[in-house]
Amino acid sequence: MAKPIRLDKLLSHMGYGSRSEIKKAVKQGKVTVNDRLVKDSGLNVDPENDEVYWQDTRVMYRDVIYFMMHKPQGVISATEDTRERTVIDLLQPEDRLLKPFPVGRLDKDTEGLLLLTNDGQLAHELLSPRKHVDKTYEAIVAGKVSEEDRDLFERGVQLDDGYVTMPAVLHIDHVEEQSDGSFTSRITLTIREGKFHQVKRMFEAVGKRVTYLRRITMGTLELDPGLPLGRYRELTEQELVSLQDHAASVKAKKTQT
Ligand code: URA
Repeated sequence: MAKPIRLDKLLSHMGYGSRSEIKKAVKQGKVTVNDRLVKDSGLNVDPENDEVYWQDTRVMYRDVIYFMMHKPQGVISATEDTRERTVIDLLQPEDRLLKPFPVGRLDKDTEGLLLLTNDGQLAHELLSPRKHVDKTYEAIVAGKVSEEDRDLFERGVQLDDGYVTMPAVLHIDHVEEQSDGSFTSRITLTIREGKFHQVKRMFEAVGKRVTYLRRITMGTLELDPGLPLGRYRELTEQELVSLQDHAASVKAKKTQT
């Protein structure tokens, strides 16, 4: 049996209104618990085993949520900001109720995979600097990215603050000469840490500039190719279990060494 919770708390938590609105609705006979009409919104219910209905709709209680977002450019990875639009502003009001937050940051001009959850434990495991969860990015880089850059990234490059990055895997997907004689490269880069502006700074370290950046994976989680920019969806059960297993296995590896 799960910890009992007041009916009005459960319903407001799931977006059915304020406590006073719920009290009124319960009095009006809109809510049943285990097929019985209830009149007391202060009733304690077992959120996992009791069957709560709001009129004809079964109210499924949950307290953790996981969203995959295809972050567009122009919004910041924060929960609130006085000037800028945040990724939370892209959520439907009902999806903000459980207070999800972005797991890690993508720059304002970076697109791609962003996990939003209120599961602090999973977020901590995915972000902890002692864990090395792979993140893969696609980028367009001004300049001719070379095999030499690939070797440098594999060994680690020194960033502007002196930090030497962990080995990263660089694939050069396409290099194109422009009409003015300059070069543009399309690359895919997998890094195992998440320093501030890391991808951009790694390319700066080899004298090149990232002009477009998009994250496509984080651990086992892959950006759904069917998810339009600016949209989000819940993780599937399989995505969630794989990600949790992955976070736990990275931990297990670290504990052994
Ligand atoms: N590296 C960057 O430079 N920017 C991001 O948004 C993510 C990784």
